[in-house]
Amino acid sequence: MSAIPERATGEIHIRGGVRLQGKVKVQGSKNAALPILAATILVEGESCLKDCPKISDVYRMLRLLQSLGGHVRWEGEGVCVSTGSITTQDMPEDAITGMRSSLCLLGALLAKCGSIVMEYPGGCVIGERPINLHLQALEQMGVHFCEEEDRICGQAPEGLHGADISLALPSVGATENIILAAVTARGRTRISGAAREPEVEALCRYLNACGARIDGIGSSRLEIQGVRLLHGACYRIPADRIVAGTYLYAALGTRGCILLEQAPCRHMQAVIRMAERMGAICQETGEGLYVQSLGELISPGVIRTGGYPGFPTDMQSVALAVCTMAQGETRIEERIFENRFRVADPLRQMGADIQQLDSHSLLVCGNSLLRGQRVEACELRGGAALVVAGLLAEGETIVTGCEFIERGYGNICKDLRELGARIYSV
Ligand code: UD1
Repeated sequence: MSAIPERATGEIHIRGGVRLQGKVKVQGSKNAALPILAATILVEGESCLKDCPKISDVYRMLRLLQSLGGHVRWEGEGVCVSTGSITTQDMPEDAITGMRSSLCLLGALLAKCGSIVMEYPGGCVIGERPINLHLQALEQMGVHFCEEEDRICGQAPEGLHGADISLALPSVGATENIILAAVTARGRTRISGAAREPEVEALCRYLNACGARIDGIGSSRLEIQGVRLLHGACYRIPADRIVAGTYLYAALGTRGCILLEQAPCRHMQAVIRMAERMGAICQETGEGLYVQSLGELISPGVIRTGGYPGFPTDMQSVALAVCTMAQGETRIEERIFENRFRVADPLRQMGADIQQLDSHSLLVCGNSLLRGQRVEACELRGGAALVVAGLLAEGETIVTGCEFIERGYGNICKDLRELGARIYSV
């Protein structure tokens, strides 16, 4: 297989009404893999990342690393990367603007090269997604940014130095960028108000395996002592808690009974507790997460998203899809991103009763009977929510815009077929 395969994009066809049953292995985490791949820029020698998800965002990031002179080789479910000697900063523009997490190259490239010129990153259309916190923190570490219309230009002529950084918001991306900038900077960096997401923890653990000195992992106060050199390491990308949560809610919605092999239960507590309130029995076993529906689907009343360990914003759309069929009303409060309710429209097309209360909240009147329709995905998690809605609906649902879903799910159709769903992509 070539290092970076081309992916076909198209439609997903689903015949709803099948109870999910069986077991499926949960893929590696997208949001853990991407910053870790960016981190390989800082590392001398090869790193082997096991269970790296085969998703389009990863292929894009690998293409960016190759364009910088890096070497990439797949070995079964893992990818081996050596990016240490960067020859150019000439990265393909479409790979940057197509993916929000190309932003983590900012911290890594500044640390490695002392300068950066890159297009503004893209990503899902789920809000304004400013990058002020990233830039302010890097400025504190010695970077001078100059304003250009659609490019980020930064220079640290004397290299990066440690700083005491207090984040006004626990931004995941900003925390990761600061970590990437700090691990080889001169002196000590302290971050207060850091994001505590498991993917930040994974980045820290990988970097420490490479010789970095990061303390306070998993907490909102990180302390990083810069080191001169990082060496390659083998690291297993943790399983994806959002993919696991998607299949958990699909099983709940179809009144199914499934085993999610290797599900990262420790990091899914808010999602598991919510599923239990809605009528699931969830049991954490040595093999993963066992989920059984009790038959009735009950509204949890309110779902309020929040930073980890709160209910993840990336699960909000999938939960919304399931709530449309639950008994009772559910208020959905999105507290991380604005504009994250775009999936409400196609769900209404399928028969859901959803009212927008204000820019951050929806009221879902349950008990709807969803009907299969042709609907369009316009972002990653909303797209997955439409697939779940299709599993719950009567008749055939066709989801278009599948390239968004492929950004984060290696093969959602195959996974769901393993659970008995009638689903295929064309
Ligand atoms: C990451 C995840 C994304 C997830 C999100 C929240 C990756 C690749 N993406 O996105 O899947 O939905 O965390 O868990 O890991 N903000 C600012 N200024 C900044 C940066 C952020 O105001 O400089 C705001 C954002 O607009 C948003 C909030 O902070 O309202 C959280 O964003 P952030 O945690 O940075 O999300 P991402 O890192 O982009």
